[in-house]
Amino acid sequence: MKQFGIAESQVERKDPVGNGDLGPDRKVSYIVRLFSDGPDEYDFLLKILSLGRDNYWRESLIQEADLKQGNLVLDIACGTGLLTFQFAKSGSYVIGVDVTREMLQRAKELTRHRICDVDFIQARAENLPLRSDVFDVSSISLAMRNVSSQRETLDEMRRCTRRGSKVMSLDFARPRNLYFRPFYYFYIFRLLPAIGLIISRHWSTIFLYLANSIQRSREPEQIGTTMLQVGLEEPFIKRMTHGVTALVSAKKR
Ligand SMILES: C[S@@+](CC[C@H](N)C(=O)[O-])C[C@H]1O[C@@H](n2cnc3c(N)ncnc32)[C@H](O)[C@@H]1O
Repeated sequence: MKQFGIAESQVERKDPVGNGDLGPDRKVSYIVRLFSDGPDEYDFLLKILSLGRDNYWRESLIQEADLKQGNLVLDIACGTGLLTFQFAKSGSYVIGVDVTREMLQRAKELTRHRICDVDFIQARAENLPLRSDVFDVSSISLAMRNVSSQRETLDEMRRCTRRGSKVMSLDFARPRNLYFRPFYYFYIFRLLPAIGLIISRHWSTIFLYLANSIQRSREPEQIGTTMLQVGLEEPFIKRMTHGVTALVSAKKR
């Protein structure tokens, strides 16, 4: 990792053996409990939840990232590595960071079946054990609602990104079309938790958490404003799939 400007010593310090070294914050403890159970089903359930659109959402982010062969990418809250691997497929070296050990273990297992340049680190998005001004793109996908502090996360992403490069967030949003919205809410609040129950009570809980977090989520414009507040510029918003997700990206000065 050293050749990429990543401080090995810091990585070790922030890469705890268990999930006990995560700070006092109650939200992060809740999130870790939520995602530590059932990482094997995550990719499949995301397909159901997104009605198969998740690949397209990630591909849109990658196209917007406009990377060159061999670029360095930071993927925050990488989970099982869906976006991490997709970035790596386009020829980048990618570091995936996540707070939940079980999600990272799944990502590492999946790495064994692929030839790709990826590394995974267990750390909090709000306190990255990485050097400043290193990455050609920093991304966070389907997780901005989950982090404890969006501002600190974006600030850390900005810090680790090179000048002139992009910080990007892809996340679920509230569709703006008022006719479409009730159908969407019926799907996420009623149908999905019911489908989740077929798999396990735990997945039903995850889907309910997801629905609530989407309903309470900040607008993409607000994420763009926070990007400006942490010193990024030229925020750009792309809504996808009737506004079910939005990509927000901005550049480091
Ligand atoms: C819905 S999953 C998204 C995974 C992946 N990015 C994707 O697009 O499929 C949310 C992930 O965010 C991680 N997460 C939540 N809060 C975090 C934080 N403060 N720092 C690091 N990871 C976090 C969780 O552990 C979980 O793996």
